[in-house]
Amino acid sequence: MAKKITILNGPNLNLLGNREGDIYGTVGLAEIEAACLDECARFDFELAFFQTNSEGELVTQIQEAGANGDGLIINPAAYSHTSVALHDAIRAINIPTIEVHLSNIYARETFRHHSYISPVATGTICGLGPTGYILAIGALATQIPE
Ligand code: DQA
Repeated sequence: MAKKITILNGPNLNLLGNREGDIYGTVGLAEIEAACLDECARFDFELAFFQTNSEGELVTQIQEAGANGDGLIINPAAYSHTSVALHDAIRAINIPTIEVHLSNIYARETFRHHSYISPVATGTICGLGPTGYILAIGALATQIPE
């Protein structure tokens, strides 16, 4: 049976393509979703792809992914640096979880150097732009049990 993976995107990522192009580039979220769908086909993964600006909605989606999915990729955006609720939600689920950031958060302002998500993620990819999402799908393929 196809494995089900979820890709969650946090606040302001709906603006990709029009947002701080020098940092986030020109590729929009719809293009990233399309590339992820192609990559998922290589692994026979079923993909659910979401963006929300709401922290509570991300918690709900993490719980849903944990209850009904096999793997999670999350770019929590600014909530990475603030959210104990997202940290706890990821701790509470039992599926491999890859944290992705488009930019290299360690090469930016110091308030971005700490992530509440990294300690509870299986692994983290940052600084590689949209390619990070593609690599994260390949990473899940190695982490999801048969
Ligand atoms: C981001 C990095 C965060 O610091 C920032 O708040 C974002 C996007 C990234 O993908 O590089 O919104 O998660």
